[in-house]
Amino acid sequence: MDTRLPILLLAPLLLLLVSSAQAQLSPNFYQNSCPNVESLVRSAVRAKFQQTFVTAPATLRLYFHDCFVRGCDASVMLDSPTNNAEKDHPDDISLAGDGFDTVVKAKAAVDSNPRCRNRVSCADILALATREVVSLAGGPFYRVELGRRDGRMSTKASVQRQLPHANFNLDQLNQMFNSHSLSQTDMVALSGAHTLGFSHCGQFASRIYGFSKTNAIDPTLNRNYATQLRQMCPLKVDPRIAINMDPTTPRTFDNAYYRNLQQGRGLFSSDQVLFSDPRSRPTVNLFANNQTAFNKAFADAITKLGRVGVLTGTKGEIRRDCTRAN
Ligand code: HEM
Ligand SMILES: *[C@@H]1O[C@H](CO)[C@@H](O)[C@H](O)[C@H]1NC(C)=O
Repeated sequence: MDTRLPILLLAPLLLLLVSSAQAQLSPNFYQNSCPNVESLVRSAVRAKFQQTFVTAPATLRLYFHDCFVRGCDASVMLDSPTNNAEKDHPDDISLAGDGFDTVVKAKAAVDSNPRCRNRVSCADILALATREVVSLAGGPFYRVELGRRDGRMSTKASVQRQLPHANFNLDQLNQMFNSHSLSQTDMVALSGAHTLGFSHCGQFASRIYGFSKTNAIDPTLNRNYATQLRQMCPLKVDPRIAINMDPTTPRTFDNAYYRNLQQGRGLFSSDQVLFSDPRSRPTVNLFANNQTAFNKAFADAITKLGRVGVLTGTKGEIRRDCTRAN
């Protein structure tokens, strides 16, 4: 019985420790400093989305690439006069300009409110804008944790080996996502982002023309889909041509991506392997059969993504201009 006493005494201390470790990000972070930050970001993102649909995939991918390199600190947005920033790395060079522009516009909307001016980080604006585009495209609406601060550094070198490639197998994907505390289920759910957006032909040319090591057309690729892809991406095509990644509902954030995988219609090896590999196939089947389960898993996973390597408290800064450090 008397063993309970020390536990009772320690409980408040433990609680304090746990909360100080987790209370870094909070959905109410701007409650006092900028109470309407969410609606300010929302209207700016909506206006941009109405101008061009690319807003959605571009912003979503920008967030992912930001979080995997130096954490979610908007370092991906920093310009370099010598072209030596993250965005100049080959893995980031195809990030669509509309994603950057979305954040710049949302930042201007936030800063137009005197109360909010220079109070909200670009990293948090990107996190909020991402939630808006997912929701606008038909995906889940989830609570966004806030309180990130902006990084001051962005280098091309820091991108090296931090982002997944289209030819990754399941072990490589898991290794990279696990290193950011994301599980295989999180990785499969986040890959569902490929329900939106475009890819350049070069990313999958070896699958349809068989100039991979084995010199064969990828056997996991649906034959009809392979034929369609060859028509859209002829052999000596302009490498700048881009095609929809989801051949069925490219403008809707839905679980069609997983049903496509079941039919061999995953565009990249890294997509198709999620179904080919028996370790992740059950998760693909679950998300393909149950849109609610996918939406929930995606919301959970993108929330975890939003915690990766964040700067909080007095670390980093609140950037005045999202493209340069103060
Ligand atoms: C799992 C490993 C992943 C790999 C190997 C991968 C790879 C790629 C590649 C090669 C492209 C095409 C780029 C181009 O040719 O322009 C692309 C596009 C895209 N990716 Fe991923 N990606 C992965 C995960 C993710 C995640 C986790 C997200 C977001 C949560 C995401 C969001 C997107 C979006 C939205 C696009 C379309 C961008 C646009 O249309 O502008 N990807 N990805
Ligand atoms: C789909 O997933 C949701 C959320 O996980 C769950 O509550 C529901 O029971 C599932 N539906 C079916 C038909 O399995």
